[in-house]
Amino acid sequence: MKSTKEGCVEMTKNVHLQGKQKAMKESVLVIGAKGQIGSELVEELRRIYGDSNVIATDIKMPSDEFLNSGPFYQLDVLDFPKVSEIIRKHNVKQVYLLAALLSATAEQKVKSAWRLNMEGLLGTLELAREEKFKLFWPSSIAVFGPNTPRENTPQFTITEPSTVYGISKLAGERWCEYYFEKFNVDVRSIRYPGLIGYKSEPGGGTTDYAVHIFHEAIKNKTYECFLSENTELPMMYMHDALRATIGLMDASADQVKIRSSYNVGAISFTPKQLAAEIRKHIPDFTISYKPDVRQQYADSWPKSIDDSHARKDWNWKPEFDLKGMTEDMLSHIQAMVQHH
Ligand code: SER
Repeated sequence: MKSTKEGCVEMTKNVHLQGKQKAMKESVLVIGAKGQIGSELVEELRRIYGDSNVIATDIKMPSDEFLNSGPFYQLDVLDFPKVSEIIRKHNVKQVYLLAALLSATAEQKVKSAWRLNMEGLLGTLELAREEKFKLFWPSSIAVFGPNTPRENTPQFTITEPSTVYGISKLAGERWCEYYFEKFNVDVRSIRYPGLIGYKSEPGGGTTDYAVHIFHEAIKNKTYECFLSENTELPMMYMHDALRATIGLMDASADQVKIRSSYNVGAISFTPKQLAAEIRKHIPDFTISYKPDVRQQYADSWPKSIDDSHARKDWNWKPEFDLKGMTEDMLSHIQAMVQHH
């Protein structure tokens, strides 16, 4: 009797342990972990899932601090055998594919942008089909174009993008829906507006001014903006972007009705309005305007976004407005500057 009982206990323990080990072993992979979104997303996912369960990869080597914070592989997303090997080795069940060239860079490097943005996605969709992981892929307000209604841009409307970046995002949305419909790949996507955060630098985008302006306001009290003063664009604070991303990935599959990509909105403003908000904190801040080629891209994009589908389907709701975002950005950047 005794031994049976003990055996039982032992077995229960083992089963329990196995269950725990299995749960522990499932991991999340972030491709493009050093970018504007990736660097913050990795931090947030590690907080949720535990450091060792979130695998970060990037084509570039990160800082020692990043290397010490959890597993990292230096990886070109187009090296699919290696991506596949990592996915198998770590029992990856969720992938965030964030490696891409943004609007301004893509215009300079047309072919490599198409290759990275498109083949990167197609290859990862194929892997998702084989390995059955849940995939997040970012789309953008850049899928819209000059013929799209610009105010409160609807979820389903004219999408005739005029940039290489926008074309790659629109094609990507079509591929996502296709892989969901034909192969049941659990792919989820958001059309990000311009993203603003203090922890990471954007690179090569048209909406980047809304990040640079804060750093310059604190360092030099002046900023030369590459968009004109009345260029209104949809924007979002990184805190909300992470909430939207993780919120969509956590939604149950049947809540996710749109498998191309969801409109998500938060704040809309012009450089002039943003400068006025900054001036409430730094009264002698000045701004000048010298629009460059990025003005054209901005002029083809929406001013504001109708995100009612995201709100209805998976309860999306932003938390930061222009005032809250400006206060938060300034106080964090100020603190960072004082620390150095
Ligand atoms: N923020 C991006 C860009 O400016 C738009 O998705 O390129």
